[in-house]
Amino acid sequence: MMKTFSLLFISVAFLLLNSNGSCAQTNASPKDTTDRKWWKEAIVYQLYPRSFKDNDGDGIGDLKGIIAKLDYIKSLGVDVVWLNPIYSSPNDDNGYDVSDYRNIMKDFGTMADFDAMLKGMHARGLKLVMDLVVNHSSDEHEWFKQSRSSRTNPYREYYHWWNAEKGKPPYRYSLFDVHHDAWRYDSLTNAYYLHYFSRKQPDLNWENPKLRHEVYDIMKFWADKGIDGFRLDAFQFAAKDTTFPAFPNGFEKDFTRFYGMQGNLHGYLQEMNQQVLSKYNVMSVAEGAGNTFEDAHNLVDADRNELNMAYAFDGVGIAKREGYSLLHLKQVFTKWDSAFAAKGWLSIFLANHDQARLVSRFGNDSPEFRAVSSKMLTTFLMTMRGTPYYYNGDELGMTNAGFTKIEDYRDVQTLNEYQRQKELGADMQKYLQQIAFESRDNGRTPFQWNNTANGGFTTGKPWIGVNTNYKTINAASQEKDPNSTLNYFRKVVKLRKDNLVLVYGKYTLLDASNPDTYAYTREWNGKKLLILLNFRDKKATTQTGIDVGKATVLIGNYNNPSKNGTLMPYEAIVYELK
Ligand code: GLC
Repeated sequence: MMKTFSLLFISVAFLLLNSNGSCAQTNASPKDTTDRKWWKEAIVYQLYPRSFKDNDGDGIGDLKGIIAKLDYIKSLGVDVVWLNPIYSSPNDDNGYDVSDYRNIMKDFGTMADFDAMLKGMHARGLKLVMDLVVNHSSDEHEWFKQSRSSRTNPYREYYHWWNAEKGKPPYRYSLFDVHHDAWRYDSLTNAYYLHYFSRKQPDLNWENPKLRHEVYDIMKFWADKGIDGFRLDAFQFAAKDTTFPAFPNGFEKDFTRFYGMQGNLHGYLQEMNQQVLSKYNVMSVAEGAGNTFEDAHNLVDADRNELNMAYAFDGVGIAKREGYSLLHLKQVFTKWDSAFAAKGWLSIFLANHDQARLVSRFGNDSPEFRAVSSKMLTTFLMTMRGTPYYYNGDELGMTNAGFTKIEDYRDVQTLNEYQRQKELGADMQKYLQQIAFESRDNGRTPFQWNNTANGGFTTGKPWIGVNTNYKTINAASQEKDPNSTLNYFRKVVKLRKDNLVLVYGKYTLLDASNPDTYAYTREWNGKKLLILLNFRDKKATTQTGIDVGKATVLIGNYNNPSKNGTLMPYEAIVYELK
């Protein structure tokens, strides 16, 4: 089975900031949530460097390629770029296996390229958030090389080892291992090391203060360069019960419950905050939000002094090959919003580099509905409370890869699971159909810039196949079309930037039991917006009880927005109510 790495009150009168940033007494919404911060008002554009733009013709995206496209990124209207890892790496997991945290991956360029890229971003008013991958390193990191060299090496305690004379260690599930076994035997010192991800991603030992301070120094190195934030990769798993007790049989079906938020994780985050985060004007976001709302609050509430926000996986995990229930989606987003209505802050997303494409999973990627359903989903993401994270290529409505053979894939998770299924004698045709829908590689095909060879991504041989639909879906052709998904994305981004009500406003779900439409209001400082979304490929009626007769349409994905609550297929409308 492919596990989508699914791998996250108070009601009185509150002090609120109005849109000028000054204070006003109102009971519209609680203080903590409406306390203005740049990272709450930001729209984050996630950029997958390997697939964005290749400058040197080796078939792999690079930093010079990003530099060449900074004007494009700026033109989107977004504020922050989150860059997937660009550090030195043998690329077992596309950079999520770091071998040197202070250097740039050769495929991507040099530190001089990085400095130029950062300067170019800042010159355009764009901020940069870097991925911080410190639940594990690469097995080719010097720390690990030392660590495995002998039991008495000073770096031994940087990782988790289990001496073999104690017998086999209690089973731990690994997400990417061919046999899902997180302990790997190493004959050199007759011991097992722990790897929650692939064998080439040994887990770091956060109990060791030396390791922790190495990480803080690395963070300072990048913060001193002027970067604007960190995304903490898989960090909810960083702390472990290092007595390694046996877990109940079948725990792997719900492994986050056993791996997430263990031990002194919060202590480590408070230390990190005190040592690094509080000293710079940087934002911080955790991948994963634990198992309960309480876990998530403990990560992000301002008075905890840990992180700014986290992203929970409940929403992104809903879409399945056989479809999904909109009622379920509404419940999940509504439940998270209410749990954070008074305190804390969340991120909003439905796609990233660990997921297949937004429109293929949550919308409809047929030629007839691709554009309109992409626009509807974009409207959703940009009108919810929380910081939106938007994945590159989704603004074009890029679709799943259309791969048919295992040789098309590159992702370690997909390939290892293939091998495992084969060993188990599974129906491999079925597995291929499954990964065609859900493999992470679907979201990693090269960005489609234009209709020239390889979609204009590279003059060489791309590291992973370009989607064959690049001739019809590409940025250049969409630039020319005022109605394109790309230009619609720019408009919705601007709408959010122009309306703080979309950032801070209270969210109220309407017509909750409607299985086809998603309707809600956002309200703040006397402004009230109504958002209507049809998630179906046919007309659907929503009953919100709100008269839109006098309302102004702020944006819609049809030229003549519906007026009577009956929405066209995948129609999206944002009204300002009078
Ligand atoms: C995170 C990343 C994913 C990576 C994994 C291991 O989930 O988003 O891409 O494979 O961590 O680092």
